[in-house]
This record gives sequence, C-alpha cells and structure tokens, in this order.
Amino acid sequence: MLFLGAKNVLLAATVVVSLYAFASAAQPGLFNEPDRPQFHYTAERNWLNDPNGLVFFQGEWHLFHQYNPQSVESDNKSWAHAVSRDLVHWEHLPLAIRYGDSIEIWSGSAVVDVANTSGLGTKDNPPLVAIYTGAGHGKQTQNLAHSTDRGRTWTKFAGNPVIDENLKEFRDPKVCWHAPTKRWVMVVALSEERKVRFYSSPDLKKWTQSSEFGGQGNVEGAWECPDLFPLTLAGKTYWILVVNVGWGGPAGGGSAAQYFIGDFDGITFRNGNPKDLALWTNHGPDSYAEQTWSDVPASDGRRISMGWMSSTRYCTLEPTLPWRGALTLPRELSLVQTKSGARLAQLPVRELSRLRAAALSESDFATAGQTLEINATLDRAMSSSFAVCAGDRTQTVIGYDAATQQVYVDRTKSHPGAPFHKDFQARYAAPLISHKDADIPLRIFVDRTSVEVFADDGLSVLSVNTFPDPAALRFEPPASGVKSLRLWRLNSIWKTKD
Ligand code: FRU
Repeated sequence: MLFLGAKNVLLAATVVVSLYAFASAAQPGLFNEPDRPQFHYTAERNWLNDPNGLVFFQGEWHLFHQYNPQSVESDNKSWAHAVSRDLVHWEHLPLAIRYGDSIEIWSGSAVVDVANTSGLGTKDNPPLVAIYTGAGHGKQTQNLAHSTDRGRTWTKFAGNPVIDENLKEFRDPKVCWHAPTKRWVMVVALSEERKVRFYSSPDLKKWTQSSEFGGQGNVEGAWECPDLFPLTLAGKTYWILVVNVGWGGPAGGGSAAQYFIGDFDGITFRNGNPKDLALWTNHGPDSYAEQTWSDVPASDGRRISMGWMSSTRYCTLEPTLPWRGALTLPRELSLVQTKSGARLAQLPVRELSRLRAAALSESDFATAGQTLEINATLDRAMSSSFAVCAGDRTQTVIGYDAATQQVYVDRTKSHPGAPFHKDFQARYAAPLISHKDADIPLRIFVDRTSVEVFADDGLSVLSVNTFPDPAALRFEPPASGVKSLRLWRLNSIWKTKD
C-alpha cells in the first residue's frame, strides 16, 4: 500500500500546483499565433518600440529595444535585449536596463569601447557602453550603462547623468567613434526645436557641445532618434544624418525617417543638398526610429539598419496580444548615383535568403500562405499589380503605376472588420527615382501582419502593416507587365512555445 507521510503529501501537492501554475502561465502556441510575424522580430509579450543600442560584439549582433516589462501599454520604458549570430534568428535575453527611481530608460545607442577610454572595463576586456536618455523628474538627460560580460548584465554609471542641460525635449543619443579627430561623437535631438546637437568626448563621460544642425528638410513633427554614419560612393565618403520625424512625412502624417547627405568633420555637419529638400528612407507608414549597427567589423563592412515597424498614429491600438510592436527587417544601406544626385538605397540583408523553403509554382498560388518572399521584374512601361493575403474578406495589393512611375501598397482592404484607427485604410506610394530605362527589380516580403517592398534596387521602399484575415492565403499574380516572377514560402525564425 502506498503511504505518503504528511510532509510528502505537501511536497506532492506543491509539485502539482507549481506544474499547474507553469502550464497556465505559458500561452498555447506562443510565437505561432495567427497574427504573429514569423521572421520579423517581436518580443514574446508586452510593449515594444524603437530599436536601441544596435552593436556588433564578439560574433553577436546585439539588439536592444524600448520595452515595457509589465504590459502592452507604452509605459515603464526599459531596454530589452536579444542577440543573433546571423541577423535572422534572435535569442531573447533577460531585460538589460530597467526603469527605476521615476526615470524611464528611453532610446539611445551602444558602442564597444575598444581602447577602454571610459575605464569601465579593461584593455583586455573592453566594455560595451550604452548611452541612453533618462526621462523623468521633468527633464531628459543623457546617461551611461556598461557591461563587461558580453552584454549579459548591465550597470548604470554612478556619475549619471553625463549630460544634463535641464531640457525637457532632449533625447536619443547616437554615439560613434570619429577616427580622424580621435573623439567620440554624439548626435542627440532637441525634438521640439527641430534640430540636432553634436557633442564630442575623449572618454564617453565628459562631453563638450560642438555644433547644431536643424530647421532643414522636414520640420513638421518632433525630431527624434538621429543617426550619423559615413557611406562611400565612387571612392568618395559622404556622411548621412538620419532624423526621424514624429509627425509628418510622405505617409500622410504619421511618423517617418528623413535623411540628409553631406559632410561631417567631427564638429559640424554640412548638408550637401538644398535646405528645403526632404529625403525619405521609406514611403510606407510603418518604419520609424531607424538606427544602424555600430562596430560592424571591417571584414564585413556593411552598414545595416532596423526600424520600429509601426506608426505614431496607431501604435498603441494595434490588435495583437500578448505582444504589441514589431521591428522591420534588417536592411543593408548603400548610396546610389541617380540623376538627382546620390540617394540612399536599402535592401534586405542577404542572410534572409536562408529562410527560403519551397519555391512556389502557379498551382500553389491559391494556397501560397502569408509568409512569402516574392522576387519579380516589372516592365517599366506597363502598370501591374499583385494581390497577397487574398481571400473572401481581405487582400493587400502591391503594384506599379506606369503613368505616375510609382510603386504602391494598397491596404484599404487588408484588415477584416472595423478599422482600429481611422487612417489605417489607405494606399501608400513611393516614386521611382533611379530614372533608368531598364526593367524594375522588385522584392517583396510578406510576413502575416505586414509587407515590405524594396523596388528599383532598394531606392524605393515601403514598409506597411496589414493585419489580414488569417484565412486569406491566396497570391494573385499580375495579368501583365511582369517579365519574371519567383516566389518562396519562408520558414519561421521562432520555435513555438506551448
Ligand atoms: C521614438 C521615441 C523616442 C524616445 C522613445 C521613448 O519613438 O519617442 O524619441 O526616446 O520613443 O520610448
């Protein structure tokens, strides 16, 4: 006869209770919910916005991002953390930098302090240093945190804040090492004044203001999340200053990222284009707070960026649970000479082709599904259009209008039921700017709740959230105007958690 003493009964009961608690805490099918992107980055649960602290270190692509550890509301901003070895598959790591003492941890960047200028590590074990905005007590200041264990644990700097100008709207420091002047350079936004300010430092701790740049390009909305980096074209180095604009831009007034092309000498940025010219990285509504990776080894040599895939208009209303917010695909940046001058081109990183599963043929189109890569060549002289995620109730149309020379994404019929925001049902267009006579190369990524379109060798880009009916699986090719067409179903980057 089995006899359990009182202590053992208690133990058995505890095991049963905790097993039950574990089972009920886990969501069935987490990461395979019908509206979960399968190869765009999302957090397991809760709120996410801007990518932060993008830095490559010892074989790992580090990704931090704005995160609320408590809920899907835009609150309690902290830095969450993930790493990847291939820019495609991401491993979620514990929270890196937590809000506290009435100060939220807002956006910023991270660098490898190779020569240990900060003294926060050693020469043999250089520290990773995060530079972020502390928002609280009625002002925004710039602060440091560091890690000496490959980003696994972080310590806030005892001497924080490192820049305090007693300003209310002063945020999003992006730091880089400026080799010619042997100084750290920071670009940070004075959001309401529509300008950025440059600082320099020998050690990441003491900062001196060097100059300001502003009032140019688009000034409709708050200037946020600046970035500054060099790119070369035909042997010449240009400096790119990216400024994200909170309300304004080409997608009907949501949020967007503009860029300036010019020159930077370590002190001053000079715009090489007319003052009023606004250039945009993306003509879709859902790419914001774009940032590029720091410390990519010279042997790789790429400049890679990622953005937050949402719009300030409806980010708090997006109908996904238990998470809210996704990041764009990582894109490789380059400069291309067009008839109007040098322009930024963006293409999805090559590593994404590892996700290609079955190549689809015409007989598969009716059940193509919602995770697709489509590569096509379009006739520049003829209009054409595709429908993806097409079904009885919804479809998203991606097309080219030869008369206006624009590529577009039409999401007026993408989402079933009542729109969760009045501006959601819309059509977004990107002009073709290469002015080539050749056929138009087009790459499209469909990932359940969104589409990203890279046309004309990455000179015209649209990132658009769609939230379709999960039962809408059909792909409809254009009736004409397509010279070549290839389709793949893409594998998921996630392991489903039960
Ligand atoms: C951009 C932004 C940043 C700020 C962060 C707060 O989306 O407003 O300017 O640092 O989000 O989460």
